[in-house]
Amino acid sequence: MSLTQSTPFQLNQWWADAVIYQIYPRSFSDADSNGVGDLQGVRRQLPYLEQLGVDAIWLSPFYLSPQADAGYDVADYRVVDPLFGDMNDFDGMLADAHSMGIRVIVDLVPNHTSDNHEWFREALTAAPGSEARERYMFRDGSGENGELPPNNWQSIFGGDAWTQVDDDQWYLHLFDTRQPDLNWENPEVREEMESVLRFWLDRGVDGFRIDVAHGLIKADGLPDWDTKSSMVEGSGNTKAPPYFDQDEVHEIYRSWNKVLSAYDGDRMLVAEAWVEPAERLFRYVRPDEMQQAFNFGFLLAGWDAARMASSVEESLEEAGKVRAPATWVLSNHDTVRHSTRYGLLDPTTFPKGISAANEQPDEDLGLARGRAAALTMLALPGSAYIYQGDELGLPEHTTLDASVRQDPAFLRTNGEEIGRDGCRVPIPWTADAPGYGFSAGAPDSVSPWLPQPDSFARYAADQQVGVEGSTHDLYRKALSVRAERKLGQGTLTWTNVHAPSDGVLSYRNGGLTVLVNTGTDAVELPQGAGVVLVSQPDAISNGSLQPNGAVWLV
Ligand code: BGC
Repeated sequence: MSLTQSTPFQLNQWWADAVIYQIYPRSFSDADSNGVGDLQGVRRQLPYLEQLGVDAIWLSPFYLSPQADAGYDVADYRVVDPLFGDMNDFDGMLADAHSMGIRVIVDLVPNHTSDNHEWFREALTAAPGSEARERYMFRDGSGENGELPPNNWQSIFGGDAWTQVDDDQWYLHLFDTRQPDLNWENPEVREEMESVLRFWLDRGVDGFRIDVAHGLIKADGLPDWDTKSSMVEGSGNTKAPPYFDQDEVHEIYRSWNKVLSAYDGDRMLVAEAWVEPAERLFRYVRPDEMQQAFNFGFLLAGWDAARMASSVEESLEEAGKVRAPATWVLSNHDTVRHSTRYGLLDPTTFPKGISAANEQPDEDLGLARGRAAALTMLALPGSAYIYQGDELGLPEHTTLDASVRQDPAFLRTNGEEIGRDGCRVPIPWTADAPGYGFSAGAPDSVSPWLPQPDSFARYAADQQVGVEGSTHDLYRKALSVRAERKLGQGTLTWTNVHAPSDGVLSYRNGGLTVLVNTGTDAVELPQGAGVVLVSQPDAISNGSLQPNGAVWLV
């Protein structure tokens, strides 16, 4: 382990050390009281985010969409879906955010459109080989009469990655049938997506989160691939499937880099790329490509000091080589929430959803570890993402009924894959209001689009904001100390007093010593150390850091 690691470049761009809060609009806050969150809901909660101390928000898709994959199936990239409001709502929200000094990142979904997109509707009525079909991945079938799919690729959500149309051709969809993949070899597709970037840049957005950034280019000849891939887990396989992480994809991001640099204000791109090893991932953030790439290796490390340490070390090393910041994340709208994962018997496992039939987490243990993990992440050099509700210590809904689940991954696998609904449950704002205040002022007949568990009362924002010792209080203080001490711009030094193999992670940054205990024995604090922040009031006793705790010391 090399002793000192930092984010090694001139950090004068806002995003390099930013704390960015992910908003999943349908589940954040519902202003028009129909049970689904919206842009006015985001707008009215901006003061809450300002007070929390975040630098930016990232909004998951709010564009026109039939919502076959909760908006990651876009029918028109330039229109706000009425479910979420209209363009005035967007502009108002953006202006308010900017007036509070909060930047705004929007989601761009370039790998596929919705089947409702006008291009795809045109493609369906056009002939094989036509220009309209060339915008997508149409192919003739295999087998004697073309009755079999063109190759053996499986959808990430389960089932074949090909669907046959009336004239017997097939089209590729790495995700749902209703999400046809675009043909990125076609210059028209490239031009259109650059025009979409400019559309939102002109409106004033500060950046884009690029969905499935590693998927746009497929290997020549679309060769068979025998393993089913999953987005949200480490495959442990360093050879990428023929539909992910192809070298040619980087040309696209070089071109987008140029689009962004024509604008003022350090606009940015963050890659959602489930790519291994770290060396491959950091190619997406070379100086002439994107600015950030989510560090999913850290997310997948789980509650385990040795795994966390090696992920941090590898990331900072690879980030250094390309002069990019590391970008930390613990949870998002595709993963089981980390405080729930950490409450499982094996806190390094990564289930694809949890149902009542599965092992149930120890909620208090998971929360204690989740809070400690927040202190672990928020003192690291680089940028950090918080998923809405993390700051409340919100757990996954682990007992959602099958009848209310909406994730296409659940539906396409007949429930074999539980899916992501459990981390998308609407946020509890007020403990004693119907729907925990998610839809303020809604009549009794309106309930949140996914049911909330009873336990959400104890996590509601009104129970935590301004309450000493709450999870919200911990996050707010951590963000404030992080900003004051410029931890995101700092240099990490491993203290090497404790070994990660003993379950203890220990590093210094910005004059702080960070101590994290994932082991089973208490760890003595250094003589004379002063406590700046501790993950739980009872995490320190008898001068020692107890298991499942973390502390920032001076
Ligand atoms: C998004 C998912 C979405 C998928 C297809 C992902 O990586 O984060 O929520 O289902 O891309 O667009």
